[in-house]
Amino acid sequence: MFTSFDNIGLLKVLNFLESHESEYLSGQDLSDILKISRVAVWKHIKKIRSLGYVIESKQKRGYKFVSATDKLLPWEISKNLETKFIGKRIYYFDEINSTQNFALELATKNNENGTVVIAEKQVDGRGRLKRKWYSPDGGLWFSIIIKPEFEISNATIIPLASSLALCLAIEKIHKIKVNVKWPNDITIDGKKVAGMLVDASIQANNIENFVLGVGINFKINTSQMEKILKNGSNFYGVTSLFKIQDKVNKMKLFNQFLIELEYVLDNLTKRKKNEIIKKWSNRTDMFEKRVKINTNKGIISGHAKKIDDEGALIIKTKSGNERIFVGDVNLG
Ligand code: BTN
Repeated sequence: MFTSFDNIGLLKVLNFLESHESEYLSGQDLSDILKISRVAVWKHIKKIRSLGYVIESKQKRGYKFVSATDKLLPWEISKNLETKFIGKRIYYFDEINSTQNFALELATKNNENGTVVIAEKQVDGRGRLKRKWYSPDGGLWFSIIIKPEFEISNATIIPLASSLALCLAIEKIHKIKVNVKWPNDITIDGKKVAGMLVDASIQANNIENFVLGVGINFKINTSQMEKILKNGSNFYGVTSLFKIQDKVNKMKLFNQFLIELEYVLDNLTKRKKNEIIKKWSNRTDMFEKRVKINTNKGIISGHAKKIDDEGALIIKTKSGNERIFVGDVNLG
């Protein structure tokens, strides 16, 4: 695990090499300047290389920084971060069971508002409604702890607000038109490109905190994923950002999402939830169509009418209007 608040020795070596990228620096020079042993220099360089940085070495000349990693390491994220509070504290894992579980555990301990937990791969990723979430290398899997300042009545808008933030980020960075599928799937050409999960902790009519889990199919093998998922519920095809566009930049998308998320959460604090609902509603094609909603009370069929101001989906059924907060929607 790496965090944004330790690994001081490794960062000393990395930052020095990077800021002198046109020069070769010997192990002895690095040791003298950075005041760490030669063995420590060597160990740090080995670790830095294993993280995906390219460091060239030449006999008698030393080490030279060639290129950075594309991994979302905490210090790389921090370099580009433009948010007010999200992402100031980051936990990074090469592999974890679930970033969501780790973040939920953290949320109970300290004041961790805005903390991000990110992993290259999850071995026990969780999806909505107790489903498994397949999370191989190449995806963007992370969870964010938020201690919101808005009222509890806004809790049901969080999934809509978060998925709107991701739509805006993808559109700004990748210039791809994305849609939403209620409540918070993100789709491109009708296939799922990202999903979200919200776990809220509510105490005495207050949202103590919520953990937003985000899974983006960034650069994954979609046909392999479709084979694995095709018999599951809520399967309607999988796509990835890389499949649509080969010049995709994980770091840019991630940072933009954090900015957009702060913005929509700020709107909730300022009681502008109708704006969020309106913008979200403009990105779905389900209104006035026949839909079947898979809920915990069984399947509800009818016509999708709107999202009301508490975030509920209104379905006109034969026996009247139904307000639905939890479920999966399917057209037809
Ligand atoms: C869904 O569409 O069912 C929601 C998927 C949410 C997946 C993300 S990946 C990061 C975080 N950790 C988890 O275990 N799940 C969420």
